[in-house]
This record gives sequence, C-alpha cells and structure tokens, in this order.
Amino acid sequence: MKGLVFISFLEFLELRLGVPALEELLARAPLASGGAFTSVGSYPDEEFGVLLGAGCAALGTEAPETLEEFGIYLFRRLAWEHEELVGGYRGVLELLRRLDEHIHASVKAIHPDAEVPEFEVLREEGASIVLEYRSPRALEPLARGLLRGCFEHFDEPHTVRSEPHASDPHRFTFFIDPLTAAADGSASA
Ligand code: HEM
Repeated sequence: MKGLVFISFLEFLELRLGVPALEELLARAPLASGGAFTSVGSYPDEEFGVLLGAGCAALGTEAPETLEEFGIYLFRRLAWEHEELVGGYRGVLELLRRLDEHIHASVKAIHPDAEVPEFEVLREEGASIVLEYRSPRALEPLARGLLRGCFEHFDEPHTVRSEPHASDPHRFTFFIDPLTAAADGSASA
C-alpha cells in the first residue's frame, strides 16, 4: 500500500487522538518501518494492519468503523493532493463513472507500484448507480468511507448500502442512491 495512505492515516489519528497519544502509539506499535513513511514509498499491507490495530485500540473503535471514518478523511486528502484529477468533476456520479478508467488509472500511471481496486458500473437508473468493488484487499469499509467523502466533497447527500458477493470474498456491490427529503426523515407534510 502506498505511503500516502499510511501518512493520511497517521494524520487522521493525530486529529482524533492528539500528538502525544499518537507518539505513544507509534513508540509501542511493532512497526517494521518505525512509523517513518514517505508518500511515494510502498509498504506491506500487513504494516497497515498493525497500524490499524493500534489505532483502533487507542480510539476504542472496531476496524470497520475506523476504516470507514478514515475513508471520509482520505477522500478529502486525495481530492486536495490530486486536484488535477478530481477538480474537473462536477458531481458524484460523473466521478464514480470514471473511477477506474480515469482516476485510478492515472494513479497507476504516476505510481506503477500502486495497488488500486477495480470499480465496475453495473447499472445506472436516474440519479442512482450500482458499483461492483473488487480487490484482493477487500477493504469494503474503506471504500464506503471514500464514497461518503465523495458525497461530502460535492455536497450531494447520498445513501450507500453494500452487499458481499455470494461466493467471492473479494467482491462487494455498492448501491448508491440520492438522499431524498423523505429518506432523510425531514420531509414536511
Ligand atoms: C469515491 C471515490 C473513490 C473510491 C471509492 C476509492 C476506492 C479505493 C479503495 C477501496 C482503495 C484501497 C485499495 C483496495 O481496495 O484495493 C483505494 C486506493 C487508492 N486510491 Fe482510490 N478511491 C476513490 C477515489 C480516489 C481518488 C480521487 C484518488 C486520487 C486522485 C484515489 C487514489 C488512490 C490511491 C493513491 C490508492 C492507494 C493505492 C495503493 O496503496 O497502492 N482514489 N481507492
């Protein structure tokens, strides 16, 4: 996994825990890298697992919740870092349609060692979209958080629901629908 993801996760933990608690966490966590990551470097997925475990223990949250919250932060960070890739999009659906062929393909072109997932548009109906996520890392909660970060970025509230594939643990389907006033519970009579 790219160092950018590790660095972003450390920033996320710093915001949640503060600097002293993060320093203590890094001093105790059995990290082969010692916690010194560069954004262009690549580090083993297991190293991220160690950091995630330490982060969850410090935050008192389970891994799926931590990853989803981190995903929201990560989208903001990626959109800022890669303004040249995200800045041209005007809305959620427009970006999601081109996640593979433009955004992650560009990440691969810049960093050939990046391990990006696959997102296939299964169908679109009006303002709703159904995406299939495929990755050997199966980071479904992170993908869900990134999607939520994307909705926030464009200020287009959506709901996201996911279903695991019946037989393949590396595939998930995301059902993404615009949040209507009725679904929000804020509809007035
Ligand atoms: C809603 C939008 C997005 C979703 C759902 C998404 C999803 C993901 C997921 C789930 C991963 C983790 C790796 C895996 O699952 O195998 C990932 C990795 C990554 N994505 Fe995205 N992504 C989104 C937008 C972006 C954007 C806007 C950028 C940058 C412009 C970006 C750049 C990256 C990079 C650099 C990695 C790390 C690759 C590595 O560690 O080797 N993504 N993405």
